Amino acid sequence: MSEVKKTGGLAGIVAGETAISTVGKEGVGLTYRGYTIEDLAEKSTFEAVAFLLLYGKLPTPGELVAYQQQLRTLRGLPFPLKSVLEQLPANSNPMDILRTGCSVLGTLEQESSEHVQIQIANRLTALFPSMLLYWFQFHKTGKRIETETAAPNIASHFLELLHGQKPSELHARALDVGLILYAEHEFNASTFTCRTVASTLADFYSCVTGGIGALRGPLHGGANEAAMELIEQFQTPDEAEAGLVRLLHDKKLVMGFGHRVYKHADPRSDIIKQWSSKLADVSDKKHLYAISERLEAVMRREKGMFPNLDFYSATAFHFLGIPTGFFTPIFVIARISGWSAHIFEQRAHNRLIRPTADYIGPEPQKLPDSSGS
Ligand code: ACO
Repeated sequence: MSEVKKTGGLAGIVAGETAISTVGKEGVGLTYRGYTIEDLAEKSTFEAVAFLLLYGKLPTPGELVAYQQQLRTLRGLPFPLKSVLEQLPANSNPMDILRTGCSVLGTLEQESSEHVQIQIANRLTALFPSMLLYWFQFHKTGKRIETETAAPNIASHFLELLHGQKPSELHARALDVGLILYAEHEFNASTFTCRTVASTLADFYSCVTGGIGALRGPLHGGANEAAMELIEQFQTPDEAEAGLVRLLHDKKLVMGFGHRVYKHADPRSDIIKQWSSKLADVSDKKHLYAISERLEAVMRREKGMFPNLDFYSATAFHFLGIPTGFFTPIFVIARISGWSAHIFEQRAHNRLIRPTADYIGPEPQKLPDSSGS
């Protein structure tokens, strides 16, 4: 086996140091700055987790109140950004809306010595839901919605802008936990992209725009949408079992299963599965949860594979009434906190990220005289 094959996709390669999170570490699992994901999902909130990632420590109760208030004041869209969002086609991929919105904001609120990285990280954390839902509601209803809601946190703000009414406590907390689970995950493809762009000393918005692009693909963030499309194809668990067996027979990838780092389980999956189950109990589409469970069982039986976070997030978000095309944007809304922490860390200990390749092309050869002009 060549070196290239062994290191394909940089699997198993240590590409740097981080103090932000551990993924699949023996006996520890997933931690954000030393706190386990199980504890954070049970006892914390997304805003506290964002503070932890961005400021390096958990907020005190007073700091948390002040931080939530600060994020609330940052929900308003600048006028030129609204006008760009209005001009973007109604059939755009919602990830392209966030990627473009982020880029436009980078021209309106440029990074400078007066507008520094932590301010931009907080602004993007507060603004991504507003960007997405302003664009969505403008094209769906023709209305220019007010994005400066009084909702206490980002999960409620998102659901309120989407549905035009305050969410139930159950729904708001379910999305809040989803955001906690999606907030950070070490050197995954999108975070590594953010760090690579940061390593060139590019501006903050360029780093994040790159991250959004990397997250968009179905092997990464896009898997939650692909999982929902799969689950929705079936009416019953038996039908799902037969359909999945056919897919596996045809050697198709089943989105929402498998992981580059975790070998036996994704610790986030059990947590979101419990929330999906709770939401199914009060939904009129319970059958989708039963179908998901059957797909999970068949993947374990046939392939020895386990669901990753994206699999049960799909039904959880669906039960919250969130359109499938917004599942990956929700990943952005959460992951901006992890990306930002990594951009800070990369900048603080920077060295240009520039690996080398094994050359497998032709030997040096003479250019024929007839070539060129
Ligand atoms: N369905 C069916 N087979 C699979 C799956 C899957 N989801 N995942 C891996 N396999 C198979 C591969 O086909 C391969 O088989 P082979 O050895 O016969 O060729 C074997 O398992 C090893 O898979 P790799 O592709 O080498 O695993 P890798 O570490 O490169 O990929 C990845 C990890 C991309 C996550 C992969 O499991 C996958 O494509 N899963 C589906 C997409 C997905 O759910 N992505 C979300 C990731 S988590 C997140 O972003 C929150």
